[in-house]
Amino acid sequence: MRLIILGAAAGGGFPQWNCRCRNCRLAWAGGALPRTQCSVAVSADERRWLLLNAAPDLRQQIAATPALHPKHGLRDSPIQAVLLTGGDVDACAGLLHLREGQPFDLFAVPATLDALAADPIFAVLHPERVPRLRLPFEQPCEIGFGLTVEIYAVPGKVPLWREGEHEPDLASERGEAVGVRVSTETGARFHFIPGCARLSPRLRERLAGEPLVLFDGTLFTDDEMIQAGVGSKTGRRMGHMSMQGPNGSMAALGELAIGRKVYVHINNTNPVLLDGSAERLAAEAAGFEIAFDGMEIELS
Ligand code: MLT
Ligand code: MN
Ligand code: ZN
Repeated sequence: MRLIILGAAAGGGFPQWNCRCRNCRLAWAGGALPRTQCSVAVSADERRWLLLNAAPDLRQQIAATPALHPKHGLRDSPIQAVLLTGGDVDACAGLLHLREGQPFDLFAVPATLDALAADPIFAVLHPERVPRLRLPFEQPCEIGFGLTVEIYAVPGKVPLWREGEHEPDLASERGEAVGVRVSTETGARFHFIPGCARLSPRLRERLAGEPLVLFDGTLFTDDEMIQAGVGSKTGRRMGHMSMQGPNGSMAALGELAIGRKVYVHINNTNPVLLDGSAERLAAEAAGFEIAFDGMEIELS
């Protein structure tokens, strides 16, 4: 099984179009590696690919990834299916790049498919060519081309644009946020969890001993966006646990004997984005890798 990280940044990307925080200023000036919004391509045969989330940057991500270029005849795509882990803009706006009549399967849990159904612009993906397939929770599903996916609830909240006026439940485990385990018949497998509010006992149990986990790397510290002067929200309020601290993801995942731990969905304010920063070195010393666009991982 091969994975390609198409985009490693959180919503907004790095640099973000309207941001001049310390990190983004560096990136605008060419002093830091830019990253597009979070998406992963995965294949069992290196011919047919599943996308985990369709980021707003998908067109650029396809252009940068030869494996995803059309290969045969007049109209073609190696992208056989797209699986959405949620209805946030950074997870699903890229579906709009996949219009033009190309068939593929679209997988998500009911709440995410309902959100798409409520928005008429997604009708550009005609259901005859792009069937919307509901994934049941905690049931491995063969999706074809050698891949099996299993969706499970992780602590999190509804998409930002569905929050309404009242603060939502920020860390429910009812399926507002999901993780996915992708596996092949030969036993290769990994988990993709781009948004997670806390590491619940159930999630710990699920991830313990697994060979690879791609995990929510939105913020290094909970109040990082406030400290950077770019916003008033904590990570907690956004449904993202931060990396640092006794309740952070570095400590929590560090106890679970996971083979390889890779941070994805990294917000543009996060200092781990900068090569050589103290925070990058701390994450690496704790056994974490910081994903970048184009990063490839081979699993057997
Ligand atoms: C998030 O992960 O918190 C969301 O992407 C926020 C957003 O949609 O901007
Ligand atoms: Mn996001
Ligand atoms: Zn920024």
